[in-house]
Amino acid sequence: MNWWNEFADRIETDVPLAPMTWYRLGGRARYLFRPRDAADLASFMLRAGHESLPVKVLGAGANVLIRDNGFDGVVVRLDQPAFRRVERNGTTAKVGAGVDLMPMSRRFSRDGLSGLECMAGIPGTIGGAVRMNAGGRFGEFGRIVREADLLHPDGVIETWPHDRLGFGYRRSAISDRIVLSVRLELQEDDPVEVTRRYDDCFAYKQRSQPLTDNSAGCVFKNPDGQSAGALIDRAGLKGFSCGLARVSPRHANFIVTDFGARASDVLRLIDAIRDRVLVLFGTALEIEVDVW
Ligand code: EPU
Repeated sequence: MNWWNEFADRIETDVPLAPMTWYRLGGRARYLFRPRDAADLASFMLRAGHESLPVKVLGAGANVLIRDNGFDGVVVRLDQPAFRRVERNGTTAKVGAGVDLMPMSRRFSRDGLSGLECMAGIPGTIGGAVRMNAGGRFGEFGRIVREADLLHPDGVIETWPHDRLGFGYRRSAISDRIVLSVRLELQEDDPVEVTRRYDDCFAYKQRSQPLTDNSAGCVFKNPDGQSAGALIDRAGLKGFSCGLARVSPRHANFIVTDFGARASDVLRLIDAIRDRVLVLFGTALEIEVDVW
């Protein structure tokens, strides 16, 4: 592949992915590509498409489970300065896909810009937050997204307005496109009030979730009108384990892992939880974590 040489100084080979994920487990990537900017990524995608090379973007690794045999393709990380810009203009902000969600939300809240305080306690990058419509009982990210710049697999860049992004509960219509940046619409508010709401939201999660353990947040989506965590709890599964992965004793929709755990431990535990909840309550839990 002659074209590969053009990108070679930005590509590493046989890279362990575990340190890049919150579970701290999983195999290696055949390649890891760190594009300089959107044009660099677009031209790479076009060429990779012609070769049918599988490509996946890894954000903060906060909502993924990478299998033990890793990923036989190209993992892209948007961690160069071009993807980590925050340009504020009054109550709007253009934010790169590689920006970390939590520090940005905290800073905007402290500055009296309302809209992101509900993101307290949610790790991840902006790209992941848009794709997944990250959120919880305090609000969802999609609500404040005015538009997003997306890269299609064929290298074309397009701006999609809010309505086209198809936000729903933990989903969007982004599919196999890559988020490059988003424009957010925030509201001016009293910095003390916004900060209080941010802190309240964070405190709620600190009380109810194992935020300092290795986990990928909630494993299952909440079924209509029910809480997956409450169902798993009622099934008596808190503390139940497979290998070095166990159901968090603090919040039953979290699987936490110890050093040395394998993806196969987590996957076996996921199956066991699903089976038990289905048998006891007749509810088929749908997984929220992205399994590679
Ligand atoms: N509950 C239990 N036992 C548990 C966990 C929860 O009985 O082990 C009960 C709680 O007492 C409460 C109800 O279930 O009455 C709901 O619990 P919680 O407020 O923790 O909310 P959740 O529905 O379990 C959702 C999101 C979280 C988000 C929180 C708070 C999903 C799947 N989960 O959890 O998102 O942080 O609301 O906003 O939608 C994530 O998506 O990764 C995530 C952690």
